[in-house]
Amino acid sequence: MNTTYDVIIVGGGVIGTSIAHYVSKTKKRVLVLEKNTIASGASSAAAGLLGVQAEWETYDPLYDLARKSLNMFSSLATELRETTGVDIGYREKGIYKVACTLKEERHLRQTMAWQQQAGEEAEWLTGEKLREREPSVSLDVIAAVYYPTDGHVLAPELTRAFMLSAARHGTDIREYTDVHRLLIEDKKVIGVETNHGTFYGEQVVVAAGAWSTPFLRLFDETYGTYPVKGVCIAVLSEQPLLDVPIFKEGFYIVPKPNGRYIIGATVIPRSFNQSVEVGDIAELLHKAKELVPKIEYATWDTAWAGLRPQSETNYLYIGKHDEIEGLYACTGHYRNGILLSPISGYMMAELLAGNESYNNLERRIHLGSTN
Ligand code: FAD
Ligand code: GLY
Repeated sequence: MNTTYDVIIVGGGVIGTSIAHYVSKTKKRVLVLEKNTIASGASSAAAGLLGVQAEWETYDPLYDLARKSLNMFSSLATELRETTGVDIGYREKGIYKVACTLKEERHLRQTMAWQQQAGEEAEWLTGEKLREREPSVSLDVIAAVYYPTDGHVLAPELTRAFMLSAARHGTDIREYTDVHRLLIEDKKVIGVETNHGTFYGEQVVVAAGAWSTPFLRLFDETYGTYPVKGVCIAVLSEQPLLDVPIFKEGFYIVPKPNGRYIIGATVIPRSFNQSVEVGDIAELLHKAKELVPKIEYATWDTAWAGLRPQSETNYLYIGKHDEIEGLYACTGHYRNGILLSPISGYMMAELLAGNESYNNLERRIHLGSTN
């Protein structure tokens, strides 16, 4: 068994596997350690929205990063299909953000205005115009803004494709391997201790999502992630209900292949409990029926919960430790880890290769303005 690597990544979610995908292409020997199975955390729970414009309420530096990341998806989808055979289900048809009250309409117009000023595409639609394109949308919807460059992917497939691609480029992946602690000697990381023994590495990256706090405390006592539980449901409809996702105040309905619609999501901070309560399902169905009344004729598919990794400091952790050589972190992506996964993996690969301009731990990337 090989126990010595250039880079060890703690966590096999979309962030850990994206880092492995990009780093393994630089010929480094990479190991991903995952305490359960690959994509068993938030990354399989996600609806897969790539909502740069739909998710951001005001401008911040993270918006620019999200835009860059979205722009990477088209070629990434092709690359991952060619390398792994996995179709990540990338759709570039946009997202509608909708309003049902005059107050919501005003707010939508304000958001659209700063985005247009920033050079982004956004099209204003009356409720009638929206229903010409999406006939199942409720008469309660009075206006919408169409963001044509937003999109969506199949989140579990994306993570699986990153993992397979990394493996093709030589990455070792160990599931059911729980990292208990990082091994540090003379202010230098030398490896990790796990339930399956010790692994040695020159560089260690913490990408453990909502479980990252014990490792992030090595960076700063204020650093940490906490879980924000989200419940989603899926229904099936032979009759087409939507062509393009609709989004309203953090709530969404996303059309997926084979007549499947993902409806989400609840937002419950600081809960590691991943059970789905009947009340969550009732709340989501109620909201869905308000926007698309015909959804009540859909058939039931399934429900699930996941834990978004939110940052205790409200800043994304992408960077390297000031004093402990070889120690890195890439976590705290909260609602947008699927969207931000390509740019995060790319930036970490650059940083691990010594490109210091990708060190963002100086609290430059605020998470505050997403929905
Ligand atoms: P995770 O996927 O949670 O991966 C972390 C992994 O680390 C886990 O597999 C865990 O088991 C492992 N781990 C933890 N501790 C250890 C340890 N000690 N040793 C070894 N392994 C360890 N984002 C979007 O961009 N678009 C969306 O539409 C979207 N929808 C969402 C809907 C819901 C309901 C939820 C919950 C999230 C959604 N997100 C969405 C957010 C997105 O899912 C997350 O931001 C992203 O998955 C975070 O990825 P991650 O790899 O950091 O975390
Ligand atoms: N980005 C969608 C969610 O986190 O629910």
